[in-house]
Amino acid sequence: MTCDRRVGRAAYYREPLIDKRPYAPEFFDRPGVSRNLAQDGLDGTFRGAEALMPYCGFLDGIEPFELPFGEPNVALACGRVDDHTRELLAAERAGLERMGDVRRREYSSGRRVARHALELLGIRDVAVTTHGRVPVWPSGSVGSITHSRSLALAMVARAGNVAGMGVDLELERRVTDELAGRVLLRRERERSVEKDWRTMLFAAKEAVYKAVNPLVGEYLEFGDVEVKAEEDGTFGAITTRPRRSTATIEAGQGFFQRVEGHWLCVFLVPYGG
Ligand SMILES: CC(C)(COP(=O)(O)OP(=O)(O)OC[C@H]1O[C@@H](n2cnc3c(N)ncnc32)[C@H](O)[C@@H]1OP(=O)(O)O)[C@@H](O)C(=O)NCCC(=O)NCCS
Repeated sequence: MTCDRRVGRAAYYREPLIDKRPYAPEFFDRPGVSRNLAQDGLDGTFRGAEALMPYCGFLDGIEPFELPFGEPNVALACGRVDDHTRELLAAERAGLERMGDVRRREYSSGRRVARHALELLGIRDVAVTTHGRVPVWPSGSVGSITHSRSLALAMVARAGNVAGMGVDLELERRVTDELAGRVLLRRERERSVEKDWRTMLFAAKEAVYKAVNPLVGEYLEFGDVEVKAEEDGTFGAITTRPRRSTATIEAGQGFFQRVEGHWLCVFLVPYGG
């Protein structure tokens, strides 16, 4: 087994572990591996790569893509934005009448993929409600939703391995010079390996915010967070001055890749981060 990277107390594993063998007790001694995993295989066995790579659901003809990390008990679902209001559960309909058409499509598509991701983890027919703007996940789970005008994507994890999670999709080339000047630090702009990393860095900051804000409850400006991205598709983040969120942000690990003309950024905060 290869431990790809170790951040804080978390470890992210890329290669499959033992297939169809009972959990070895020493497995649980590894950092970042929670005993919650034991609940995953009903027969107490790993399901090989499946148990370690995220469960993925690609709807509406979206070309499947691989995520650059393996994390037990994480599921991702991605679909196209359309009017899915009829698929919403009763508890998800609050405020629907005040939404315009565009917002309804994005909201209902986000909830649709959120529930699809939950189903991939075996959590069925439970509403994802909202508190303020923050989605409220069924007990024992944590997740994040993002939507552009065309794509909706959600990632969900069983709480235990991952304490916080943020996902963000941004249309490529969305960040103009003017916007970059407002949302990125000079250091970030200068370190960009290619021009459109500016859009990726913007998405990375929003993913960080979505992962950390529900945990810490602190509002962060774009200038409060500095993202350091690597060419291998990973990023880390720090705060530019001490904040309540500092330790949580620094314990997290980010990943980025392109998906259908968008940048997708994911930020995971390990349990205890
Ligand atoms: C909240 C915010 C990050 C959402 O990002 P966005 O690109 O506008 O929109 P997305 O489609 O990607 O995501 C919207 C979803 O994010 C989720 N969301 C909203 N506020 C959230 C929060 N505080 N924490 C976690 N998730 C949140 C919701 O699920 C929302 O979809 P829904 O309303 O349909 O349920 C953004 O609007 C914002 O307020 N940013 C300012 C703070 C920030 O990013 N700081 C950067 C430095 S860390």
